[in-house]
Amino acid sequence: MNDLKVLILAAGQGTRMKSDVPKVLHRVLDKTMLGYVIEASKEADAKEICVVVGHQSAMVKNTIKDIYEDISFAVQKEQLGTGHAVMQAGDFIKSGNILVLCGDTPLITAETIKKLCEKHENEGNSATVVSMVLDNPTGYGRIIRENDNFSKIVEQKDADSEQAKVKEVNTGVYIFKAEKLCEALSGLSNENAQNEYYLTDTLEIIKNSGEKIGIMVAEDDKEFMGVNSKLHLSYAIKAMKERINTNLMLDGVTIIDPENTYIGKDVKIGPDTIIYPGCMIEGKTEIGDSCIIGPNTRISSSSIDNCVTIQMSVLLDAKVKSFTSVGPYAYLRPNSNIGEHCRIGDFVEIKNSNIDDGTKVSHLTYVGDSDVGKCVNFGCGTVTVNYDGKNKFRCKIGDEAFIGCNSNLVAPVEVGKRAYTAAGSTITKDIPEDSLAIARNKQENKNGWRKKVNK
Ligand code: UD1
Ligand code: CA
Repeated sequence: MNDLKVLILAAGQGTRMKSDVPKVLHRVLDKTMLGYVIEASKEADAKEICVVVGHQSAMVKNTIKDIYEDISFAVQKEQLGTGHAVMQAGDFIKSGNILVLCGDTPLITAETIKKLCEKHENEGNSATVVSMVLDNPTGYGRIIRENDNFSKIVEQKDADSEQAKVKEVNTGVYIFKAEKLCEALSGLSNENAQNEYYLTDTLEIIKNSGEKIGIMVAEDDKEFMGVNSKLHLSYAIKAMKERINTNLMLDGVTIIDPENTYIGKDVKIGPDTIIYPGCMIEGKTEIGDSCIIGPNTRISSSSIDNCVTIQMSVLLDAKVKSFTSVGPYAYLRPNSNIGEHCRIGDFVEIKNSNIDDGTKVSHLTYVGDSDVGKCVNFGCGTVTVNYDGKNKFRCKIGDEAFIGCNSNLVAPVEVGKRAYTAAGSTITKDIPEDSLAIARNKQENKNGWRKKVNK
């Protein structure tokens, strides 16, 4: 469809979330609910997207603008109903085909939107609504049919006992020809049980003007799952997780316990990588083939090449090249670039540093703001002293250097190629290539001291 415009309703307060955060900004895994709806719209080729905001509109706008380009906003000051919300979009709804979505149904897919658009066009409908059939339709608007055709939608609170028995309900997703929608909106009234302007009534108005209304029965109810409480949020997370993990497994990723593995929609993972339980992998993370990740690992916005092992560690905005192992209990903070065949061992923290191929930082070490060459060996307990309370300085460590255990490297300082530091040294001066630096007091033995002090 070449004139598809998407209007996303997101003005409601979401009282039942019991939260200071607007409902549509709550996250399902690593993305806001509204974000998923926007992305599905874009994937379905929406030409324009407008979000109707109301409660905490500034927070919603700012959060969304930071992430997504080309989104416009309309403000609904008072929440007088879904029809009223659509009216606030002004010129946006005056041309094209208007798809209405809700900001609190994160599971909607682009495929479903595309199917709806096709049906709407092929049947020449003035409006097409997506319905679903539920064992328990309570709370939803009922789709009332006449000789199988659309007649009207009756809200739960306005339904008589016969209507209330109908199991086919309105998902809240529809597409309208703009002119027909606008005409119908001008004829809306709020004479109903909730004194609201119902968008659902526009369908009956359009039908009564002699136009065709289509109904597309949804294949998968889950896509229309609305989130109204933190409990619902957990259902949405579960469903999203299942969808993402299923796709990854079908693409050849081994996920040992999908129930206990939380991977974001934008994450890419290569085949034959094994994900052990308890992992959270977020943002635009890319992981190559044949890696072993986890258990209990968090990786955010990082890039991991092939054949990397990461156990029980946290990686934020980090890069790790092939055949390197990380952890257990390592912390790679933003802008850590680790080369090939490296070992980053237990209780090692690395920040804003480049570690070149073959280097080993095996245990209990902090490397911050440093450029480390190839095949360097860090002894246990090395600290780069990079911060004087005001400024940060860099350490430079040449290829094949050997940092003795429990060394402090006080930056700015440079350790030359193949240089050694003696264990326990506090290094404050540059060390030339191939040299040994000893920076500690000489040992003095007081012979027989124990016997003397104990009489
Ligand atoms: C609506 C439908 C109902 C359907 C159900 C599906 C109407 C009248 N009813 O009911 O037939 O079965 O969705 O979930 O449309 N919103 C605004 N401004 C408002 C009111 C609502 O922006 O003034 C937004 C909400 O933030 C929400 C969406 O519209 O994202 C739906 O509103 P909600 O109050 O949840 O509608 P329902 O009563 O559930
Ligand atoms: Ca509702």
